[in-house]
Formats: sequence, structure tokens, C-alpha cells
Amino acid sequence: MKICVLPGDGIGPEIVAQALRVLRALDLKLETEEALLGGCAVDATGSPYPEATQKLAQQADAVLLGAVGGPQWDSNPREQRPERGLLGIRKHLNLFANLRPAVLYDELANASTLKPEVVAGLDILIIRELTGDIYFGQPRGIEVRDGQRVGTNTMVYSESEIRRIARVAFAAARKRRGKLCSVDKMNVLECTQLWRDVVIETAKEFADVELSHMLVDNAAMQLVRNPKQFDVMVTGNMFGDILSDEASMLTGSIGMLPSASLDENNKGLYEPCHGSAPDIAGKGIANPLATILSAAMMLRYTFGDEPAAIRIEQAVKKVLASGFRTVDIYEPGMKKVGTREMGDAVLAAL
Ligand code: IPM
Ligand code: MG
Repeated sequence: MKICVLPGDGIGPEIVAQALRVLRALDLKLETEEALLGGCAVDATGSPYPEATQKLAQQADAVLLGAVGGPQWDSNPREQRPERGLLGIRKHLNLFANLRPAVLYDELANASTLKPEVVAGLDILIIRELTGDIYFGQPRGIEVRDGQRVGTNTMVYSESEIRRIARVAFAAARKRRGKLCSVDKMNVLECTQLWRDVVIETAKEFADVELSHMLVDNAAMQLVRNPKQFDVMVTGNMFGDILSDEASMLTGSIGMLPSASLDENNKGLYEPCHGSAPDIAGKGIANPLATILSAAMMLRYTFGDEPAAIRIEQAVKKVLASGFRTVDIYEPGMKKVGTREMGDAVLAAL
């Protein structure tokens, strides 16, 4: 198993180090090679997704990513910003299917800002299309028209792009509780009318899955009103970006949420849903669990090793049950630990 490791910026290197310790402890045949992505890559090479990284990422079976970004690069020209590196690798590797599970561990029911009875037992999967939509649509830019600046982005989806992400979502729902909710804004946006039409057409291939549709504004409300009504949600790139952050908070901490971004052949990039947290970088206090759980997703989706994935997930559960908490999920009476100690605890539980 060839893994391209991209620690990235901020807390990225700290949390990736712990995920690698966990992977190595499993005695799998792993080959890892590190490369630069994001701000560190800009500093070293001038590009956020340098050619050496492109080559390595393309040759690998899977990519493990920490996080990219930081305030020191925010005023760079767009092509030299860390985020451009992330969008670049997603597009380059054709990682169109982004899986973001939001699972609430019983031990963390009090960490959520929502009432425990609203979120207890929560287990939803957001599937976000990742290589299209307004993120990549043309035309785009800022130009001067009639003496004033005008900004443009374009929301665009082809039916083949919609169909392939819909198929991923239906297949995922089939393996879970059999319910799929497709999120769009068809009352206003033609692009998402097409989205809804194509999802309905695709449903014919998955008669056993119960399909529903929701407008994105209502979906945002329903996620905090009654999140347990959802099993799998599927939506476009921009709506998925927003809804997945919202869903993460149902679970108490964005520091717990892993993600997988897959191509048509289950090659994948695995990263925590959270960012590079520059304010706590280098302090050894970041929560490594989302990255460790991303490594579990890698074993499940790219390497087809369900038992190893479950082993990691069970170890994380055990660690939480034993009271270990990083500062983001800390409650009085628990054992406050740093990044490496949390890694130690997961290793011990394995
Ligand atoms: C995410 C992030 C990225 C996105 C940023 C960092 C470009 O918010 O993965 O959700 O918008 O896709
Ligand atoms: Mg986001």
C-alpha cells in the first residue's frame, strides 16, 4: 500500500504524525512518502501543489493529508494560496466524491451545543460533490465594468457529474439505513433543477433506497432542528461545504470528523474536516482523532480492509470511554491530554 503523506500547515504535521503511528502499529504492508502541499509548499517552491507532490500523489494508492492554510499566506495572489493547492489536488486526482460522516460518540453527547436528546446516537453521512460547481465553474474573476468592480463565479454541473455522485450516494445509502436526501435550491437555481432531475432519474437504478429532496435553506434548519431524520445526504460542492461544517458541530467538535475524497476507482485522499488551526499550531494540544479516523476510512475505502478500519474506530471509542480528552472536547472530571498522549492512548487501546 503506497501512501503519499502530506502533513501540510499549522497543526497538520502534529496530527498526521499520530495517524501514522496508528497505521504503522497495525502491521500492514505500508510504504509512505512525504511531500509538500499548501503554505509550506508555497514557501519552499512558490507553488501550493508542486510538481514533485503531483507526481507522488498520482503514483500513490492513497493520500493522507493534515490541513493547509494560515494567515501568513492570506494576502498572497490566489495561485499562491494554500487552498489552491487543496483544490488543485482534488481536481488533479479526480476526487469527486467527498464522504463526511458525522457520528456522535455517546461519550461526547455533552460536548455538543445541542441538547443531548437531539443528537444522541447521531450517525449521518454527508456526500459532497467535490470537483465541480461554483468552485471550478467558468467564467470567474473580478473585472471593472462601467467604472465599477464586478465579481463573477459560475455554478455549473453537467448531468454526468451529477449522475456519478448520485450513484455513490445511493450505493452508500443502500449499505446503511437505506435513506437518501438530496439537497438543492431548485426553486431558484436552474443548475440545481438539473441536479434534482438527474438524481430522480438515477433513483430508478436504486429502487430499494428511499429518496427525498430538500432545499438547502430548509436542510440547514432541519440539521439543527432534528438531525436524526437524516441517513445519507448528497449535495453539490458549495452547499456540501457549508452543511458539513454545520453537521460537524452536532457532534461537539470538528476535531472528531474524518473525511474521504474518492475517485471512480476508490483511490482516495483522506483528511480531517477541520482546518490547520494556526492559533494552536506547535503547542502539542490539537486533537488527532479526526486524522486517525481518516486513516481508518483509508483502510476501509481504498484498501478494502474493513477489520483494520473497525479496529481503529473501536480503539478511538475505548480511549473516549476511558476519559481521555484533548482540550477541544474536554469536560471537567476527564483526563486532559495533548496530541501525542492521545496518540499513545489510541496505540494502547489497539
Ligand atoms: C473544506 C474546506 C475547503 C473547501 C477550503 C479550505 C478550500 O473548507 O474542505 O471544507 O472549501 O472545500
Ligand atoms: Mg469547508
